[in-house]
This record gives sequence, structure tokens and C-alpha cells, in this order.
Amino acid sequence: MSINAEIKVNGKSYELPVVEGTEKEIAIDIGKFRSASGLITLDFGFKNTGSTKSAITFLDGEKGILRYRGYPIDQLAEKSSFLEVAYLLIFGSLPVKDELENFQESIYEHTLVHEDIKKILDGFPSNAHPMGVLSSLICSLTAFYPESLDPSSSWKDVNLSINRIIAKITTFAAWAHKHQQGHPVNYPGKYEDYTADLLHMMFKLPGKEYEVKPVVSRALDQLLILHADHEQNCSTSTVRIVGSSHASMYASVSAGINALWGPLHGGANQAVIEMLEAIKADGGDTDKWMAKAKDKDDPFRLMGFGHRVYKNFDPRANIIKVAADEVLEALGVDDPILEIAKGLEEVALRDDYFVERKLYPNVDFYSGIIYRALGIPTEMFTVMFAIGRLPGWIAQWKEMRENKEPIGRPRQIYIGENERDYVAIDQR
Ligand code: CMC
Repeated sequence: MSINAEIKVNGKSYELPVVEGTEKEIAIDIGKFRSASGLITLDFGFKNTGSTKSAITFLDGEKGILRYRGYPIDQLAEKSSFLEVAYLLIFGSLPVKDELENFQESIYEHTLVHEDIKKILDGFPSNAHPMGVLSSLICSLTAFYPESLDPSSSWKDVNLSINRIIAKITTFAAWAHKHQQGHPVNYPGKYEDYTADLLHMMFKLPGKEYEVKPVVSRALDQLLILHADHEQNCSTSTVRIVGSSHASMYASVSAGINALWGPLHGGANQAVIEMLEAIKADGGDTDKWMAKAKDKDDPFRLMGFGHRVYKNFDPRANIIKVAADEVLEALGVDDPILEIAKGLEEVALRDDYFVERKLYPNVDFYSGIIYRALGIPTEMFTVMFAIGRLPGWIAQWKEMRENKEPIGRPRQIYIGENERDYVAIDQR
């Protein structure tokens, strides 16, 4: 089927090419529209603007579909591991046994970080937000590996940077947590897997054993898989646009971490727990808070419900709900906040207001619950999200560079003053 697009401005028509994706998504290519017409298009927040063609992640919010490189998210979450998914996202296909083993081995080898990075860590006050610490430490890798700054580095060097950053982010995240606690840091070890190593570094206390229950490391691994990519969102677009200036991967990922930090993006899981704490402090009356959420004169919204793109269900939430139940049971967690969460979920799923508006629990509703049950402090929630999203950022950065995409440079409509003459200071 051939599709044509035509824009008519003041009686003059412009024919525009139409691009079709493998899932039959259609876009009007306006790349040459300005040179033909002198006009630009305006789209605050790029809500209707495709910034690239990508072969990494397919998402259909209406149908609740999320696939990495064609593989459905539920299959990956059930059968795969985070490092396997990282390989898939970054290199485009599922690894064979040797490839996965070599990849894992290389990640384990690179978890150790230069001792001087500890001096940078020590320079932060102990109340520094761990996201700021994480983005700074990631960016500091540009200083320890200056060859990564060379935009003409070989793909072999890029692959080394990829392994280094996936390895070191867990060490940095755990160290940011330990620093906040005022505890000595733990060094990476070779535990059962990537997530077990992370948990050891985060929670092991000097002279004490620390055991990671398989159900816990598995749930965390699944959470990382579910967060690994989500096509062109705020942080991912940031990584691509920073990388489009040929900034290094470390600098680009560091920028992505900062973009993820905001409460409108990665910070929602923290907002869920803060809301549950507020409900508890208020006496735990979920009906009262449901009424607030439905009251149009009240700005309060039920955190962890609804989604900008998923309008029927969040496929990630269905998977993680099961893991959340398993973790809570395995750990025998008895936390009044979690009881409030369960109560709220039950009421909301039956409530007409929520059902009519298709407001279902999203992934952040359950991820916050799991993190809390694991004893991870709320300020670290977004850090965990960043670890999960890292392979997606790397894959998108790599794709952008492989495709030799141009530097990102949006346009604007100027609405400021017209030209006027400078006025001397004593005459203003
Ligand atoms: N609680 C109460 N009412 C809600 C909620 C909520 N959480 N979410 C949406 N609504 C209502 C909203 O008031 C509106 O009602 P009406 O039609 O009567 O005016 C209707 O539902 C549609 O809302 P909307 O704002 O047009 O929906 P949206 O798609 O623009 O917003 C959202 C999506 C995620 C911003 C919103 O649902 C929300 O604020 N949720 C709570 C915050 C949250 O959990 N965010 C995390 C999202 S997952 C993050 C990720 O994947 O990265």
C-alpha cells in the first residue's frame, strides 16, 4: 500500500515522504519540509515527533506490548537473565553460550574500580543524593579512561567501555549507598550473579555473613530486565542527543542518569512509597485517599497508577506483581505500608473511576514495594532503575553512532522582544 502525505499551507501543497516501520507504524518525514517551505513543525515535549528509526525496542501502549529486539518482555523476564538481555539489547541477538560466558566474565573482571575514585566519593557529603553521586562517578570514568573521549575509537574499544560501564555501575551504586550510610565500602566479589554481587556490596557489614536468597536476586534481576529499555523516553533521548555531539559513552550515560533522576521520570517509584507512608501517617484510611485521588479539586493522584503510553495494562507490572508477592512471602515481610499498598490496589482495581479511565498499577507501583522489602532506601530506588536502564542507554547510544546520525538540534519559535536599541545604565 502506498501512502502519500501532503501539507497545504496558504494554498501551496507540499508532498512529504512517508516512512513505515516493521510493525506498520507510519510517520511523515518532515526532514526536508523546512528547506522546501521555510516552515518548521512545533511539538512541545516531542509527544508526536519521532526522533529516530530504531531496531531496539517495540512498544505498543494501546495493546500493552513491549518487546526487546522482537522478543516479548514476558518471555525475557521469565526465561532470561539481566546480562543476557543486556547483550541482546546492545548487540542485537541472543548470545550463544560462549558469547554469554565471555560477556559475563568480562563484566566480572571490570567491576573493580580505580582506588582514586574512592577519593571522589569521599568528597561528597554523606547526605548527597545517590543519583548525583552515581552520575558523577560514571562521568569520572572519562578521566580514568581518556581514550574513550576519542570519537574515532575502534568498536573494540567501544566494547571495552560497554563492559566497563556495565560492571562498574554496580560498584558505584553500592558505594553511593554505603557512603550515605557512613559505612566502609565493600569491594566487588564473584558471587552467584550480577545482582547477588550488587546486593553483597550494598548490604554486607564488616565481619558479618550476608546471604542473598535466590528469590531475592531473581526478583531484582527481573526488575532490571523490565527496566532495561523503553524506547525514546526522556533519559534515552538525552543519551542519544548528548552522544550525537560525539561525547563519550560515559558522559552520555551520565547525562541520562541525570535525566532519569526527576520525579516525572525515574522518581515515580520513590513517590509511591512516599504516598504509602503519608497514608499510614494519616491513619491508613485508604478510602479517604481514594476519594482524594478522584476529587477533581484535589491535585492528589494515586502514585503508581496510570501510564502515559500503556492504556490497557503495563505488561511489566503484571510480571513484577508476581515477583513482589514471592519476595514478600519468602522474606516474611510484615510491613504496614505493604498492607496499605495491597489494600489500595484491591480497591482501585474494582473502582469505577479507575476502571473507566483504564488506570492500572504500573511497574513503579510494584518495584517500589520490592525495593522496600529488600531494605533498599527510597533514595536508592532511582539508582536501581538506572542500573536496569543502562543496557538500553548503551544500545541506543551505539545504534545512533553506528547509523552516523547527525547532531541533535531542534528548532524553536521565538516569542521574545523584537529588535531594540541598547539603553545606557543611567537612562534605564
Ligand atoms: N490517580 C487518579 N486519577 C488519575 C491518575 C491517578 N494516578 N492518573 C490519571 N488519572 C485521571 C486523570 O485525572 C484524568 O481524569 P479525567 O479524564 O477525569 O480528567 C484521566 O485519569 C486521564 O489522565 P491523564 O493525565 O490524561 O493521563 P496521562 O496519560 O496524561 O497521565 C500519568 C499518565 C502516568 C502521568 C498519570 O496516570 C499519573 O500521574 N500517574 C501517577 C504517577 C505515576 O505513577 N507515574 C509513573 C508512570 S510509569 C513511569 C515509567 O514507565 O517510566
